[in-house]
Amino acid sequence: MKSLEKFNVIFLGAGVGLLTLAFLTLGLVPAMMTNSVKPIEVMPKEVPEDFQEYYETVDEYKTALYQVRDIYFKEACWHCHSQYVRPVGNEALRYGPVSTPDEYQNDLNLPQLFGTRRVGPDLIRQHGKRPNDWQFVHLYNPRDVVPLSIMPGYTWYFNADKSPKPEAVALVAYLQWLGSWQEDRTANVYDTRQ
Ligand code: HEC
Repeated sequence: MKSLEKFNVIFLGAGVGLLTLAFLTLGLVPAMMTNSVKPIEVMPKEVPEDFQEYYETVDEYKTALYQVRDIYFKEACWHCHSQYVRPVGNEALRYGPVSTPDEYQNDLNLPQLFGTRRVGPDLIRQHGKRPNDWQFVHLYNPRDVVPLSIMPGYTWYFNADKSPKPEAVALVAYLQWLGSWQEDRTANVYDTRQ
């Protein structure tokens, strides 16, 4: 034991040293890197044409997008869907180019919704992939458009006559917004189901 004790200072020094190194490499450097990324403008200046019947002003539209972030959390959409195209498995073929940090430097993506599971497809490039009508039907009962889907239907966001409540409209507005700031990346997404 005695012979080991004389190394105490060295062990302590090494411990503190490695802790500092870990703080720098895993904490400070990534923080500096992401903070230096210039955010891209993701908020539309006007209400997209498809949603003008639902929202009169761009502020109403933006408020809906923020509300939907809460619904997306609450309904655990993130539990089955990621919002991050990874640089593996030819994902770019299916979802569009690999995600980059600048996509996430905006209020609606902080904290980001990368998600860890992929029960369903990645959603970060959902913009324009499906028409609104498809999205409404799919949200009400996914099996009406994708017969073998295991996604739950969110019927409580619809009225008795199946017309969408404001929450359903906001959800679809949010889905169509995802990736809209990079149309060039959504343009040639290859859908494996077609
Ligand atoms: C239990 C897992 C699960 C949950 C929870 C879930 N989904 Fe899905 N989702 C799936 C699966 C599986 C698919 C693929 C089959 C299909 O299209 O229905 C899918 C497909 C989709 C698609 C079509 C994507 C594409 O490009 O084809 C959208 C949009 C979508 N989900 C949105 C949502 C939203 C919004 C929520 C939360 C309100 C949600 N999902 C919750 C499993 C889930």
